[in-house]
Amino acid sequence: MYKELIDRLERENILTRDEYLTLIKNRSKITEYAAKRALETRRKYYGNKVYIRGLIEISSYCRNNCYYCGIRADNKNAERYRLSAVDILDCAAEGYRLGFRTIVLQGGEDGFYDSAFISAIIKLLKHRYPDIAITLSLGEMSFNDYKRMKKAGADRYLLRHETCDRAHYGKLHPAEMSFDNRQRCIADLKALGYQTGVGFMVGSPFQTEENLADELIYLKELQPEMVGIGPFISHRDTPFSKYESGSAELTVFMLSLIRLTLPRVLLPATTALATVDPFGREKGLKAGANVVMPNLSPVDVREKYMLYDNKACTGEEAAQCLNCLKQRVKNAGFEITTDRGDYNNEI
Ligand code: 5AD
Ligand code: FES
Repeated sequence: MYKELIDRLERENILTRDEYLTLIKNRSKITEYAAKRALETRRKYYGNKVYIRGLIEISSYCRNNCYYCGIRADNKNAERYRLSAVDILDCAAEGYRLGFRTIVLQGGEDGFYDSAFISAIIKLLKHRYPDIAITLSLGEMSFNDYKRMKKAGADRYLLRHETCDRAHYGKLHPAEMSFDNRQRCIADLKALGYQTGVGFMVGSPFQTEENLADELIYLKELQPEMVGIGPFISHRDTPFSKYESGSAELTVFMLSLIRLTLPRVLLPATTALATVDPFGREKGLKAGANVVMPNLSPVDVREKYMLYDNKACTGEEAAQCLNCLKQRVKNAGFEITTDRGDYNNEI
């Protein structure tokens, strides 16, 4: 019966919320089959290619206080840094040299870096490297800020919605943070023509299996070009320090369901997944993921961008990490490509 549900999901790319829930509740019986079908689906659209995105963590300052996050404003133990424009350009140059054709600028919501500064960086990068895609992941901003950066040449934006359930959102964030504003941002990004990425943590505190079924319905309706999911991992200096981390097993199963629901989606095997399971990345790729995002940030700041404890790959130079990843991806039966890796609209 579970097999039939997966087969129908593969054919029609949609199930009812109750059917998704049935699969999630009974996942232990169907995980392998779901991964097999998800792998076949990704092969149809993307072959065995794995896209790489070079991640530059430009600032660990953040005005927000999400209960789960290690760089929340109230964490006095977090060491803060902000890369200079020169640092950012140097990291990007190294990334380009190594073959990256997507550069991701990610950071906390640092008021210091406004859309004018980011736009200037985007223009410089696009002028130097016309063949790269620029992805931003800088949190919530106004429509006009998003518009300015799009005009400057940004291609994509990652803004995880964190949870599609308003009440659950309220339990993960302080009252100053608004579910509606986050949804407004996502709608603005889509309207402005960004390839848009959303996502959520798996196993975050108070998350239910029903929430996860709702996430799949939410994603189906939104049709984002990218989806980033990873297990919640507790961080010692946050209000959620005592909560258990999410599991690799459930994250991997959710990756399969997402691939089967959004066949062409760009879906990373995240660092968080690699952190909870030493073979997390490989397991993610074998279950439908098709993107990896190695870190290009300078090694001396890596330890300071700690969203959660024990983050993987913080000690490696970009070049080392890329080589390690290439080998791992190859061993898992895939191949890293340096294509820009835009959303495949053609097939
Ligand atoms: N565990 C896992 N993921 C986290 N994020 C933030 N804190 C944690 C944590 N403790 C994720 C959030 C955010 C993204 C940048 O990192 O989903 O959107
Ligand atoms: Fe980064 Fe292995 S993947 S060091």
